[in-house]
Amino acid sequence: MKKLIILLACLATMASCSAPKQESMEELTERVMQTAEQQYKYLYSQLEDGAIPQSLLPNGDLKTTNIYNWISGFFAGTSWYIHEYTGSEEMKKIALEYTALQEPVKHVTDNHDVGFMLYCSYGNALRLTGDESFKEPLCTGARSLATRFNPNVGVTQSWSPMPQHDWVFPVIIDNMMNLELLMWAGKEMNDQSLIDMAISHADTTIKNHFRDDFSTFHVVDYDPETGAVRHRATKQGFADDSAWARGQSWGLYGYTMMFRESGEERYLAQAEGMADMLIERLPEDGIPYWDYDSPKIPDEYRDSSAGAIMASALIELSQYVDSQKSKLYLATAEKQLRELASENYLAAIGTEHGFLIKHGVGNIPANSEIDTPLTYGDYYFLEALMRWREL
Ligand code: GLY
Repeated sequence: MKKLIILLACLATMASCSAPKQESMEELTERVMQTAEQQYKYLYSQLEDGAIPQSLLPNGDLKTTNIYNWISGFFAGTSWYIHEYTGSEEMKKIALEYTALQEPVKHVTDNHDVGFMLYCSYGNALRLTGDESFKEPLCTGARSLATRFNPNVGVTQSWSPMPQHDWVFPVIIDNMMNLELLMWAGKEMNDQSLIDMAISHADTTIKNHFRDDFSTFHVVDYDPETGAVRHRATKQGFADDSAWARGQSWGLYGYTMMFRESGEERYLAQAEGMADMLIERLPEDGIPYWDYDSPKIPDEYRDSSAGAIMASALIELSQYVDSQKSKLYLATAEKQLRELASENYLAAIGTEHGFLIKHGVGNIPANSEIDTPLTYGDYYFLEALMRWREL
């Protein structure tokens, strides 16, 4: 018996010695950031003047766009995060160049994306340099965004009317993200009207975009005179009544941010409700399928961008909730970040034209950007790692 116990003890010691030690989150972040620096320098080296990297084309070529696309701030924003972590002056130069390029965006009034476009670039530029000259484009951009607020409805309009869908005043859940610019500018300029618009938008969206289980519709179309809901629908999801994954992540991130910015408990409750529902519905590895309700699951595309946005939101939300929930949110975010940093998702250096994470989905119904890197996937992945570092 004694010999058997000694033998078992030896075997246990050998097993524990041979098991590979798990990489710490600090080591993982260092590895990802070093990869990101090399990848983004490579990505930058391929850009023609003024071209902004968006994704890859179906033939594998680099897909670029101009400053008026909703994604235009992410390349600068990701470059800012890489500079912040590595201290690379070359990355700072790239970040500054691509931030400055976006200046005319401050006058955009024909869509709601000004928040995405300016806050990721100019917002990070201001945060990291303290240079006050970055404030003016942010303030002017917020005023441009505010022109889209309709007091009859209580929200800012996302898109122009779409007669093919009979939509006259479409508002998408993604628009929650643009409220961060309104909240910042309202405080900066001491203009309560901007803050009131953001609060009204968030409240109206709770009322009209959500289902009883805390999942959200993608599009709500309003009557601009009465504020009545005309349609609840989707543009990028599997079906009108399905849970399009990135939309769920935008909602989670948006209400977490609105709680931080306003202190209103109802936004925290909304974010917690969403987080709990989404965590229940995630696949084992934590990276959502592109729509939680696709009938093809598990033979379905993942959306790495939805996973990255969700991880970043969960890390912030974990700081506002009780310790049991905090542990759950952090464990989920850690699982997501470890998966995104694995070879399943992280691009090898010199591949994917320099993007960082693979397997995103832009818009399946439009047959666009399917199973490909996406600039915003990279942005929220690095933001999440930076947030983890601050824990
Ligand atoms: N409209 C932003 C997105 O496609 O998620």
